[in-house]
Amino acid sequence: GKTVEYWLSVEEGSCAPDGYTRTCMTFNGTVPGPTLIADWGDNLVIHVTNNMQTNGTSIHWHGLRQLGTTEYDGVPGVSQCPIAPGDTMTYKFRVTQYGSTWYHSHFSLQYAEGLFGGMILNGPATADYDEDLGTLFLQDWSHIEAFTLWNTAKLGAPPTLDTGLINGTNTFDCSGSTDSNCVGGGKKFETVFESGKKYRFRVINIAIEGVFQFSIDGHTLTVIGTDLVPIVPYTTDSVQIAIGQRYDIIVEANAASGDYWLRGGWVTTCATNSNPDGMTGIVRYDASSTSDPTSTSTVTASTSCSDEPYASLVPHLSLDVGNMPTITSEDLSFTFDSYFKWTINSSSLLLDWAEPTLMKVFNGDSIFPTEYNVVAVQPSSSTATEWAVLVIQDTTGLGLNHPIHLHGHDFWVLAQTTGMFDGTASSFNTANPPRRDVATLPGNGYLALAFQLDNPGAWLVHCHIAWHASQGLSLEFVESESSISVDSADQTVFTNTCNTWNSYIPTE
Ligand code: C2O
Repeated sequence: GKTVEYWLSVEEGSCAPDGYTRTCMTFNGTVPGPTLIADWGDNLVIHVTNNMQTNGTSIHWHGLRQLGTTEYDGVPGVSQCPIAPGDTMTYKFRVTQYGSTWYHSHFSLQYAEGLFGGMILNGPATADYDEDLGTLFLQDWSHIEAFTLWNTAKLGAPPTLDTGLINGTNTFDCSGSTDSNCVGGGKKFETVFESGKKYRFRVINIAIEGVFQFSIDGHTLTVIGTDLVPIVPYTTDSVQIAIGQRYDIIVEANAASGDYWLRGGWVTTCATNSNPDGMTGIVRYDASSTSDPTSTSTVTASTSCSDEPYASLVPHLSLDVGNMPTITSEDLSFTFDSYFKWTINSSSLLLDWAEPTLMKVFNGDSIFPTEYNVVAVQPSSSTATEWAVLVIQDTTGLGLNHPIHLHGHDFWVLAQTTGMFDGTASSFNTANPPRRDVATLPGNGYLALAFQLDNPGAWLVHCHIAWHASQGLSLEFVESESSISVDSADQTVFTNTCNTWNSYIPTE
C-alpha cells in the first residue's frame, strides 16, 4: 500500500449549522471535518495539531482495527496522553478494512461539539452504483454546548436536545425569536438524483444519544455494508441505526421526477429523551426546484430497539455452540456518588488522563489500578486461533438501550435479547450472525459478542451515548499484554508521564 498523509488542525470557533450561532470545535475550521480517503492496504499518516486554547485532545479512528498499533487508537488515559495545546501528534496505522467510518475526538464530550469527520476506505467493489454521494451524517444537536449540558446529564436524566442535523445542516425556526444567536439562514441537506441512476450513501450515526430510522420517501434502500463489514445485500424501506454504527446503502433513482423527503427518523422509544421532529433532507429530481417535498412516508415506525438483522458476506465464524471458549460475563448497573455513574461489575471506568494504562505497561507498573475497570485476557497458546466471548448483562432495571462499541476488533453478535443470560451458549446464534463494531445492548437484557484474540493491545469497550461514556460506562480490555509491542521509534512518546498535560483537563 501507498502512504496517505493528512493534516488536521483542532480549533475553537463558532458555527451555526441550523442558523443558531454557538461555540463549537472544528477540524481545519469546518464541521464536519474533512473526509479522509484511503485505499484498503494503505498506510495512513495523520498529523493532528491541537490549536485550541485550554483543552487537551485525542483523535480516535472509529472501527479501525489498529492491528499492532494500539498506541495510535487515540484514547486518552488508555493509549496516550492528551495532545496539549500547541502540540502535534502523528498517528500512523494501516488500513486493513474497507467501507465507511468516521473519526472523532475521544476526549470527554468534544465530538459533540463538532470534532468529527468521515473516512472512506475504498476496497473491492461489492455492489454496482453510478455515483458515490459520500458520507451522510445523522446527528442530534443542541444550541447549548455539550459541556454545559453535562451539568444536567451527570445527574442521570439526559437533557433534551434542540434539533437534528443531516450532514451537519438543517433549518431552525428563528421567526419571533428575540435570541440574538438565532440568526436563521440554516439549510436542509439536499441532493439531486438523475432518474435511473444508482447512488451510494454512507449513513453514519454520530449522535450524542439519538437512535435513527433512516429512509427516503418513495425509494427502496439496498444495504451492502455495515460498520466496516460487507454483508449479504438486502433491501428494505428503512434502516435503524444506533450511535457509532454505519450503513452503506445503494438507492436507485426509480422515480421520474419530483421532490422527496429524506428522513433521519428520530426513534423516541429507543433513546431516553424526545427530540423535535423535522430531521429531514431533500432528494430532488430537478435541481432547479426549490419547493418543499409533499411526499409522505410509508415506513412502519420501528418498535424494536435491536439492530438490523443481516448476514455477513464472509461468514468466517468458526465457533460452535458445543465448543465455546470461556464466557466473560459483565454485569451493568449504576450507582450515585456525587453524580450518576454506571458500573460494570461494581466499578466505573473513570479515565485518569494523566496516566494512561498503556504507558503503565511500558513503565512496568501494574496495569490494574483498582479504581478502573480493567479486564485482562491472555490466550493460552500463541498458535491456535482463540476466541473471546463477552456478555454484558443489564441489571439496572432502567430499561435503557446502550450502543456498545469495542475498539481494536469487530465482533459477531451471538445474542441480543431481553432477559437474563443463563451462563451458557444455549441462546447463541452461531449461524453467520451479524458482524460489526457497535451493537445495541437491549434494556433489561444482554448482548453476547465473539471476537478473535488476534490483536494485542489495550482496548476500550464502551457505551457510545456521550453522557454514558462520561459516566463511566466503559471497560478497558487488555488483550495479550505480554505481546503488546510498540514501534521503537514511538516508545519515547509512551514512556513519558502526562504530568505536563494536567492543566489541560477540562472540569466535568
Ligand atoms: Cu467512536 Cu470509543 O469510539
